[in-house]
Amino acid sequence: MDNPKLNGWIITTIRQKYAIEGMDNFIYLSNNVKQLYTKGLSLGIKMEIFTPNEIDLIISNEDVLKLYVNNEIRDLPDFIIPRTGSDTDNKVSRFYEQLERLGVTTLNSERSIYACVDKICHLQVLAHHGLPIPKTMYVSGDNNLDAVKKEIGFPLVVKIWPGSFGNGISLVNNQHALDDLIGMLVQANNEVNILVQEYIAESHGKDIRVFVLGDKVLAYGERNAQDGNFKSNLDRGGKLRKIDLDEEAQRIALKATKVLGLECAGVDLLYSGNSYKICEVNSAPGFITVDQHEGINAAESIFSYLFQKMNIPHSL
Ligand SMILES: Nc1ncnc2c1ncn2[C@@H]1O[C@H](COP(=O)(O)OP(=O)(O)OP(=O)(O)O)[C@@H](O)[C@H]1O
Ligand SMILES: [Mg+2]
Repeated sequence: MDNPKLNGWIITTIRQKYAIEGMDNFIYLSNNVKQLYTKGLSLGIKMEIFTPNEIDLIISNEDVLKLYVNNEIRDLPDFIIPRTGSDTDNKVSRFYEQLERLGVTTLNSERSIYACVDKICHLQVLAHHGLPIPKTMYVSGDNNLDAVKKEIGFPLVVKIWPGSFGNGISLVNNQHALDDLIGMLVQANNEVNILVQEYIAESHGKDIRVFVLGDKVLAYGERNAQDGNFKSNLDRGGKLRKIDLDEEAQRIALKATKVLGLECAGVDLLYSGNSYKICEVNSAPGFITVDQHEGINAAESIFSYLFQKMNIPHSL
């Protein structure tokens, strides 16, 4: 299949390990971005990869269908694949928003991506739609932390953001530790966002990652911490295990994706009694969960989805 006229941009902030031959200005990429890039090329698409810092927007009363990339004026791409996830700050959001307004096809809307960056915002949306979440309080340094003790109890989980890959989260066992941690966080950064959350002990060190694309569950797996820690993030050394996904987990993951307005999502579920609680939803999920399912390729599925969205006939 050949799409000579299509131009697709992958937007990423992640500096990682995999090199792509022949690309001198972009040596370090995540494996996911590399897979998307090479799959796009193999489909005959002109693929490019940018960080938000390389792009300057033009905002005007006319619809300017151009922007600057590395100081060079460029036509808009046909589609973008945002991979900035929880690194999506206000500037990146405005960039996604503008491209959307100008008619560029994107995987996940600006609104849905931003809703996942703000840890409170996405819990609010999920709770509003009746989806199960751990009880959570949004606290400020001045708050009376007695309220936290009354509402949540110990042990509890403290999360801050922006923060990523399991770095902005801590398990706290008692009031003194909580006072000390919150005092220290506020002291270090007055602007920090802090949430305090019910600890789901049953799910200690494990959770389920469900990879959703469109209105379908594409893949899933159980993530297990290997070091006894309560965090199961794969980036912290957690290992993925094959499991069966019951209907309830599928229903929750699909509904969470839908109410947040996402098209591609990694929904993380904590085990809780006969059901689950949503830990968080990610807008740029890694592909490892998909890779463990034989015969499914994440990048290929994403392009297939985008072609459908752009009404381009395809047979992948
Ligand atoms: N309330 C909780 N109870 C039990 N375990 C939890 C709870 N919240 C988080 N965890 C564990 O900690 C891990 C990391 O938490 P979380 O996903 O909220 O942060 P993060 O991955 O650092 O966030 P981000 O995706 O923004 O980088 C989860 O995958 C889960 O294993
Ligand atoms: Mg997470």
